[in-house]
Amino acid sequence: MAARAFPPSLHYQGLNAPVRMEVDIRDLGVEGEIPAEIAGAFFRAVPDPAHPPMLGEDDNVLSGDGMVARFLIQDGSVDYSSRYVKTARFEAERKARRSLFGKYRNPFTDDESVAGVDRTVANTTPIWHAGRLYMTKEDGRAYAIDPITLDTIGRWDWNGALKSETMTAHARIDPETNEMFAFGYEAGGLASKDISYFIIGADGELKSEQWFEAPYCAMVHDFAITEKYALFPLFPTIADLDRLKAGGAHWVHQQDQPSWIGVMPRYGSVDEMVWIEGPAGVHAYHFMNAFDDGGVIQLDVCLSDTNAFPFIRSASGIDRHQSQVKSSLSRWTIDPAARTITEREVGPPGDLPMIQKKDQGRTYSHGWYITYDPRQGPPIPAGPVETACNTLFRIEPGNGRIEALGMGPTRAINEPVHVASSQPGHGGWLLAVVDEAVGDGFKSALWVIEADEVAKGPIATVPLPVPLRPQVHGWWVPAAELEAAAAAAA
Ligand SMILES: [Fe+2]
Repeated sequence: MAARAFPPSLHYQGLNAPVRMEVDIRDLGVEGEIPAEIAGAFFRAVPDPAHPPMLGEDDNVLSGDGMVARFLIQDGSVDYSSRYVKTARFEAERKARRSLFGKYRNPFTDDESVAGVDRTVANTTPIWHAGRLYMTKEDGRAYAIDPITLDTIGRWDWNGALKSETMTAHARIDPETNEMFAFGYEAGGLASKDISYFIIGADGELKSEQWFEAPYCAMVHDFAITEKYALFPLFPTIADLDRLKAGGAHWVHQQDQPSWIGVMPRYGSVDEMVWIEGPAGVHAYHFMNAFDDGGVIQLDVCLSDTNAFPFIRSASGIDRHQSQVKSSLSRWTIDPAARTITEREVGPPGDLPMIQKKDQGRTYSHGWYITYDPRQGPPIPAGPVETACNTLFRIEPGNGRIEALGMGPTRAINEPVHVASSQPGHGGWLLAVVDEAVGDGFKSALWVIEADEVAKGPIATVPLPVPLRPQVHGWWVPAAELEAAAAAAA
């Protein structure tokens, strides 16, 4: 029988303590003033385990059931709502009142009653495209969510059109064509080398899906597009079916294996894919952006010299503390004709990069990302890296110019979203949830920050009367787009 209490590990304590509250709070208090131009919804994906882990001792935060949360901002007022994504897994476990799914991404460790049940927890990114909201996680298909009620509509395959069994949590939306470029790895099943590359049109319909085989079954968390190309970077965090069948870890990072980048014309055939070998042993979860630059492609990578997740290093026999992982924001210059990659460091360590929507796949001047800086204070355990971020950067990767906002020793910052401004010369705003250690627990607040003046700190804060668990990714949806979607659904 599964445990009835969450185990006393850091994955379930402090900021990681399960919250499990589906709430609607109208008119949160606002300290300062939220500019009237900020009107819309800030959606957040939050892993929040509904039940203690089945196998008793521990699990990592990436297994937590997906909670979709929303700050709705209009005329300076803010409402907050949260709902679990009612995945097949969530519903099966809720009925049983206990966990039925075993180890992270290993179905061979599940309770036999859920054999064949979709395992995804849809906890990684809320994606908005063509008037639909999806909750995504790379190990399964997306779940469609009603953006107004936050009710779960269901597992989404574009009315049977999508063949891939999985979809990334990092789709890329072209700002001019409004197409969504996406992919799924392990598309043909557990530990398969199949990757599906698909494009959803501005009308929300699947326009194309092509499959190709990768050099190995890597964890392909993110990809990139430019105006000409689609880029599939592979790093050697690798799955193995026999290991899974033996009850082992889904991922082992193989420090001696090369990285690869698959490059193809974004509207081309997968038969045109060129595979370019990159440095061995490195790993990245996220790319800030990519763009065409004459005959080459520039790709800005939050790069580490090994896998940044302690639970993966541990399963891989890589005995390195988080402080010994070397990272940087790096620019990879990729020459598809010469099949070469050259690398240069353009910024300090950090992750969870963010750009303006209009800059996707284009030459761009600046972006934002967050990091843990030990000079701010000791680490606050949170998220899969087991260290919360305490510093926000605005960076100009082309010239290395950087501005930072440090959170000090008691606060952590989650990934921000960017809200564009229509005022000429105004760079818009960032919205981010900041968690603060207070007494024995944490209090959270939404911060509103001038995007081009991050060092100034917040211009408005919105404290929450309920605790919030650390978010993975977020998405901003302008009010006009929400209203149009609601009108179309009515
Ligand atoms: Fe991600």
